[in-house]
Amino acid sequence: MSTTSISVNDWENPALPGRNRLAPRSYFFPFADETSARTLDRAHSSRFKLLNGNWKFHLSPSVVEAPDEFWQENFDASGWGNLPVPSNWQMHGHGKPHYTNVQFPFAVDPPRVPTENPTGCYRQTFFIGDDWAGMQIHLRFEGVDSAFHVWVNGQEVGFSKGSRLPAEFDITPIVRPGQNTLAVRVVQWSDGSYMEDQDMWWLSGIFRDVYLLARPDTHVADLHVHAPADGKLKVNTTLAGKTDGCRVTTKLLDHTGRVVKPLPPRLWSAEDPYLYTLLVTLKDAAGNVLEVVPQRVGFRTIEIKGDRFLVNNVGIKLKGVNRHESHPDLGSAVPVEAMIHDIVLMKQHNINTIRTSHYPNDPRFLDLCDEYGFYVIDECDFETHGFCMQKDWAGNPTDDPRWEGACVDRMERMVHRDKNHPCIILWSLGNEAGFGRNLTPMADAARAIAPDRPIHYEGDWDVQIADVYSRMYAALDECIIIGNGTDEEIRKRINRSGTGYASKPFLQCEYAHAMGNGPGGLTEYWEEAFYKYDRIMGGCIWEWCDHGIRQRTADGREWFAYGGDFGDVPNDGNFVCDGLVFPDRQPSPGLTEYKKVIEPVKVIRAGHQFCITNRYDFITLDQLQLSWSVSVAGAVIQSGTVKIPAIVARKSKLVSIPFDKPASGGYLNLNFTLAADTKWAARGHEVAWAQFKLPAKQATTPAGPRGAPLQLADAGNSVSITGTNFRLTFDKVRAVITGWEHAGLSLLRTGPRLNLWRAMIDNERVGGGNSRYAKPWREAHLDMLQHRTDGVAIEQTTDTIRILARVHVGPPARNMGFTCDYTYTIDGDGELRLDVHGVPHGELPPTLPRLGLQLTLPAAFDQVRWSGRGPGESYRDSKQAQRFGVWQATVDELYTPYIFPQENGNRTDVDWVTLTDLRGQGVSCAELPNFSAHWFTTMDLENARHTIDLVKRDFITLSLDHQHNGIGSASCGPGPWEQYLLKPAEFQFSVHFRPVAS
Ligand code: GAL
Ligand code: MG
Repeated sequence: MSTTSISVNDWENPALPGRNRLAPRSYFFPFADETSARTLDRAHSSRFKLLNGNWKFHLSPSVVEAPDEFWQENFDASGWGNLPVPSNWQMHGHGKPHYTNVQFPFAVDPPRVPTENPTGCYRQTFFIGDDWAGMQIHLRFEGVDSAFHVWVNGQEVGFSKGSRLPAEFDITPIVRPGQNTLAVRVVQWSDGSYMEDQDMWWLSGIFRDVYLLARPDTHVADLHVHAPADGKLKVNTTLAGKTDGCRVTTKLLDHTGRVVKPLPPRLWSAEDPYLYTLLVTLKDAAGNVLEVVPQRVGFRTIEIKGDRFLVNNVGIKLKGVNRHESHPDLGSAVPVEAMIHDIVLMKQHNINTIRTSHYPNDPRFLDLCDEYGFYVIDECDFETHGFCMQKDWAGNPTDDPRWEGACVDRMERMVHRDKNHPCIILWSLGNEAGFGRNLTPMADAARAIAPDRPIHYEGDWDVQIADVYSRMYAALDECIIIGNGTDEEIRKRINRSGTGYASKPFLQCEYAHAMGNGPGGLTEYWEEAFYKYDRIMGGCIWEWCDHGIRQRTADGREWFAYGGDFGDVPNDGNFVCDGLVFPDRQPSPGLTEYKKVIEPVKVIRAGHQFCITNRYDFITLDQLQLSWSVSVAGAVIQSGTVKIPAIVARKSKLVSIPFDKPASGGYLNLNFTLAADTKWAARGHEVAWAQFKLPAKQATTPAGPRGAPLQLADAGNSVSITGTNFRLTFDKVRAVITGWEHAGLSLLRTGPRLNLWRAMIDNERVGGGNSRYAKPWREAHLDMLQHRTDGVAIEQTTDTIRILARVHVGPPARNMGFTCDYTYTIDGDGELRLDVHGVPHGELPPTLPRLGLQLTLPAAFDQVRWSGRGPGESYRDSKQAQRFGVWQATVDELYTPYIFPQENGNRTDVDWVTLTDLRGQGVSCAELPNFSAHWFTTMDLENARHTIDLVKRDFITLSLDHQHNGIGSASCGPGPWEQYLLKPAEFQFSVHFRPVAS
C-alpha cells in the first residue's frame, strides 16, 4: 500500500459513470428460434445463462484491505465463505443495515467517500459450452450497489456505477470454452452514493440478476417499439455487426399466438392490459435465422392536452402508491414471487398506479406491471436529498457541471432500458435532488430517446422543466386551489414566483403518509379534489410497504427492526416503516381504507332507486356481479342478485333493488364482485361495496324502569348497592366503582374514569410537523390526569339508586382541566347507566387526543361482540372501509401490531359492545360510539418501542370513547382535517352497562 495516491479512484470520480460498458439498450432476451421466442421466457432461451447462485465472498473494511489480486484465476479463495447472488451482504451477516432518510451516513465532501468503505470481493466460475462457440458473449448485471469492477479470467472487463441500472459488458475476447473465472469487487460507497440518497436502508452488493447472453456477431443491439393507440406500429431496430444482406422481419401475435395486423388494435390500459407479442427475427443474407427477439407490445397513447393528462384520450385517475423494493428478509434483493405478491395485493386493493420510488426497479417488475395492468411513473436512480442539510444545498451534484455526465448517464440508461413498456406513463428525473442545471440535460436525454412519455420531477417547484405539476403532501385545500385555481391564486398559496402551475396537469406524486396508524382523511382527497377536478391526475400514497427487517428473539418471537436497531448511527428510527402493508405484507387498516376510497363503483341512493356510477376510466362494469342483502342485527334476512346495466366508464345509471324494508330497520348491502377469475383474484373477490341504513318503521318503545327493590348500605367511605342478583360497590373517596358482581361473577376490575390520552400515533409523534400535536399534549401532561373528588351524593328513588359525583379531572402542574359530573344510575335489574358531563376550564391545549372513559375488566372477558363498524379498526377520518354489522373478535384479534406500538384497534360508530368469557358471561356497554380493548394499558403501548416490548397484562383495558382526534397524515404531511379535530369543549356523554348472562 502506498501512502500517497495521486490517481483518482474510479469510485470517487463522477466523470466516470462506467468503463467498457456496452451502449444502453432496451431490456429483452434473444432466442435462437421462433418457437423458443414465443415462450417469452428467458429460461427457454439457449442464448441465456443465469449466473445467480452461491458465489465465493469476502468482505473487507476498506478497499485497500481487500485481498490482493483476488481476481487472478489461480487465487485461492477456499478460505472464503459463500454469499448468495443476488443479495445484499448486510442481510447475510456481513456488515449491518443502516437507515437514514435525508442525512448522509458519511461526511459530505463529494466526490470523496469514507476510507472505511466496506468492499465485497466475489468470485464465481462459469462454463461456456460448445454451442456458444463463435458467438459474442455479453455479461450483464441488472443491479449492483454501489460501484463495481469486473474481471474475467484475470483480465479487467470494466467498471460501473448507478446501483439500480444495468451494466453490460462484451467479454467475447476473454472467455473460452469450458471453465471461466468471474471476479467482482463491489464498494459500498462511491461518488454514486451521493446520487442515491433515497429514504431507505443503505444495503450493498450484487442484488439483482447476473447473466450471460450469447449473441451472433450480427445481432439486435437495440429495439424500440412504438405502439400508439391508432395501431400504427413502428419497430426500430439497431443492429450490431456486419449487416450486409441481413434482414429484420417482424410479426405481431395476439394472445392466442395468431399473427395479426390489428387495425384498430385492442388498446392497453391498466384496466384492460392487453398485450400483443412482437417477434423480431434477424436473418442473414442466406436467410438463416440469426436470432429472434420477442417483445410484448401494448398499444396506447399518452398525451398532455392543455392541463389534462390523457391515456388513450381519456383523463385517467391515478390511484397510486409509491413502492420501494424492500423485503423483510432479503432487503432490496426482491425475488419475483415477492414482486407478484405485491402486485396481486395492489390489484386486489384497486390500486392502478405505481411510482417506482425512487429508482428504476428490477426490470421484471415492469414486465409484471405491463401484464397485470398498472400505470408506472419510472423514476431515475437519483436523489441527493442530504445536500439540503448543507447551506443552500452546497455541492449538490444536480447543479454541478462536473456531474452532468453522470446525471445524463443515469437517465439514458433508464429510458433506454424501459422505453418499450406500455405501463410507463411518465419519466421521472428522480426525487428530492434539489434544483439545478443538470436536470435540463437529463430531461432532454429522455425526450431525445422516448418523447412519448412526459417528464415528471417534483423538485421542479416552478414547473420549468417538467411536463406535469407535481407536489408532495399538499393539503386538501391546496389541492382544491390547484384543481380550479389560476396561476396567481396558486402562486399566492405556495408563495413562489413562476408561472405554468395552472396550465399543466397536476399530480400528487406523494400524499397521505401511511406511517403507523393512518393515513386519515383519504375520502376528502378523493371526493373533494381528485375526482372533482379534471386537471388533477390523482396521487400516490407514501408508501406501499414498511421496510422493517425481520428479527427473532432467542425464544423465537418475531419482530421487525428499524433504524437504530443495528447500532446504526445516525439514523432516522422508524420513519422507514411508513407503508400500507407491514413488512411481511399483512395489509394495514390504511390499505383497506384506501381500497374503499378508490373503489371503481360508487352508489348513492336516489329515491327508491340507486344510482350506480362506473368510476373506471375505460371499462364497463361487465366484469362485475352485483349481489345484495338485507341484514338485521347482523343476520341476513333477504338477498339476491341484480344485473348491472351497461354503464360505460365515468357514467351512471339507476337500478332498482327488489328488497322489502324490514320493520325493525337494518342495512341494505350491495356487493360488487368479480364475475370471473382474473390473474389477480378469483371470481367472487369483492371490488366495491355500498351500504345503506334502512330505518325502523316504528320506534321501539324504551323499556321502563325495572323492578326489584335495591338495598343501599353506606359505610362512610364507600357504599354498596345490592339487588336480587348483583352487588355494586363505590368508593366515595375516589369517586369510582370498585366492584360489580353479578350472579357471583366479578364484572369489573377497575371502574370507568375519564381518559384523554392515547398512545401517541406516529402522525402525532414524529415527522415534518415535528410532533406538532403530541408536544402540547405532553407539555400539558394529559397522560398524567389526576382525579380529585369534590363531592359525592346518593339518591334513592323507588326503582333506582343514583350516585352523583363531582370530580375535577386535570393534569399536574397546570391550572386547567375539566369539572366533571358523573351520574351513576343503578336499577333493580342490575343495569348501570353513567352520564358524564364535563366543563373545561383554564387553558387547555388546542386539541385533545381522545375523550372518553377507561376501565379494566377481568382477563376472562376476551370474547368481544359489537354492533357498529367492523370488522377492522376505524377512526373518525379513516372508517369508510368498515361496514355496519354485528361483529365478533377476541381481544387479541382487535389489536393491530404497528411496528412502532401506538394507539390502535379502535372500532367506531358502535351501538353496543359486549365483552364476555367463553361461557358468554360478562358485560355489555352501549351508547358510546368508540371502543377498543387491549391486553396492554395505554402507557404500555406508549412506552413500547417494538412489538416485542409489549407484555400481556392479566386484565383487559377497555376504552369507551366519546370522540377521538382524527388520524391525519402529520408524520409527513397535513394533520387531520379541521372537522376531525377534537377541540376541548363542554361535553356530555352516556354509557349504559349491563351484565350479560349466557
Ligand atoms: C418524501 C420523500 C420520500 C420519503 C417521504 C417520507 O419527502 O420523497 O422518499 O422520505 O418523504 O416518508
Ligand atoms: Mg428524501
